[in-house]
Amino acid sequence: MTDYGSDIYTEPDGSPDTLGNLGPLATMAGVWEGLQGSDRHPVLGGNEADTFVEHYELHPIDRQTNGPQLLYGLRYHTHITKPGAVETFHDQVGYWLWEPAAERVTLTLGIPRGQVLLASGPARADASAFELTASVGSEVFGILSNPFLDRSFRTLSYRILVTVHDDQSWSYEEEGVLQIPDRSEPVSHVDRNTLRRIGPPVANPLAAPAGASTTSGPGHGSLGIGSLRSIADVGGRRA
Ligand code: HEM
Repeated sequence: MTDYGSDIYTEPDGSPDTLGNLGPLATMAGVWEGLQGSDRHPVLGGNEADTFVEHYELHPIDRQTNGPQLLYGLRYHTHITKPGAVETFHDQVGYWLWEPAAERVTLTLGIPRGQVLLASGPARADASAFELTASVGSEVFGILSNPFLDRSFRTLSYRILVTVHDDQSWSYEEEGVLQIPDRSEPVSHVDRNTLRRIGPPVANPLAAPAGASTTSGPGHGSLGIGSLRSIADVGGRRA
C-alpha cells in the first residue's frame, strides 16, 4: 500500500508530457486493429465461441491528481464486430491509468450492458506484461452490474492479462467469471486478441503542439474518442 503521507490536499506538479510518463502503458498509445479476436461466452445450454474484429483507440489525457496521488493515463474506446458485420458485438470505454509512485496499473471499464468495473494490478514501469483484477463486492477494485445482470449473469470476478510485444503489437486475454442461475458451476467468459498498430495517438491538451488550440476547432490537441486526427511525433516519441 502506497504511503501518501498525512497531507491529502497538496498536489504534485507532474509532467505535461503524458506519452513520456505512461510506464508499461506507453506502447499501447495509438490506434490499433485486431482481426482475429476470439470470444467464448455463455449461451442457453452451454457456451459459444466466436471470432471478432476489433478497433481499439487509446489517446493520452492530461495528468490527473487526487491530492498527492499522481496518475498518467490513456482514454480508450474499443469497438468490436463479427467479421464482415456492421452491428456492434461488443463496445467498451474507459481509462488505462499508470501511477508511477505506486507502480500500479488501473483500468476503468464501462460497457453498454449497464456494467462497470475498476480493475488494478502491480506493474514495473518497464514491464512488458501485467495482470489486473477486480472482484464483485470489493469497495475499491470492484464490479457493478445492473439489477438484471446482477441476478441473471452476475460477474463474480474479472482479470485481464496484457502482453506488449513491441511498439507494433500487443495482446490481451481477459476473463469474466459469471454466475448464472441455471448452471451448477461459474462460467468463464474469455476474450483474447492481438492488436496491430494502424495509427498514432492524439496528443493530450498540455502536450499539443505550440499554437494549437486545446479547446475547440480543427487545430485542437485532443478531439476525444473516435478522433481520426493524428500527430506523428508527440512528446518527443515517435508514435
Ligand atoms: C472482446 C470482448 C467481449 C466480447 C466480444 C463479448 C461478447 C459477448 C457475447 C456475444 C455475449 C453473449 C450474450 C449476448 O450476446 O448477449 C456476452 C455475454 C456477456 N458479457 Fe461479454 N463480451 C466481451 C467482453 C465482456 C466484458 C469485458 C464484460 C464485463 C466484464 C462482459 C460481460 C458480459 C456479461 C455480463 C455477459 C452475460 C450477459 C448476457 O448474456 O446478456 N463481456 N459477451
